[in-house]
Amino acid sequence: MTQYYVVASKAELEDNPQMHVDINGTEILLCREGDQYFAVAYFCSHAEFTLEGGTIHNGCITCPYHGAEFDLSNGAVLAPPAWDPIATYPVRVEDDDTISIGLV
Ligand code: FES
Repeated sequence: MTQYYVVASKAELEDNPQMHVDINGTEILLCREGDQYFAVAYFCSHAEFTLEGGTIHNGCITCPYHGAEFDLSNGAVLAPPAWDPIATYPVRVEDDDTISIGLV
């Protein structure tokens, strides 16, 4: 069963649209693009460097190290050098302010 954890308010992602989140040892990158929120693995599947600081564009994130691209909605690889997808997690926004991430 998916359990949701409150991790941030929308205001916390206004200036910097990326946030590192640790939920019980699961490291997650919470991202905002416009008014959409995504939660993906914090580490890239290529060489396990962090995705934080990567460029977000058109629902994708580009790894800041070697340029692999991932679909933020499902973690699919869109450009090499990564081959394996990254984990994604459901995000809920409640009361138009509180952001929660779901973990199984
Ligand atoms: S660590 Fe992300 S592309 Fe190499």
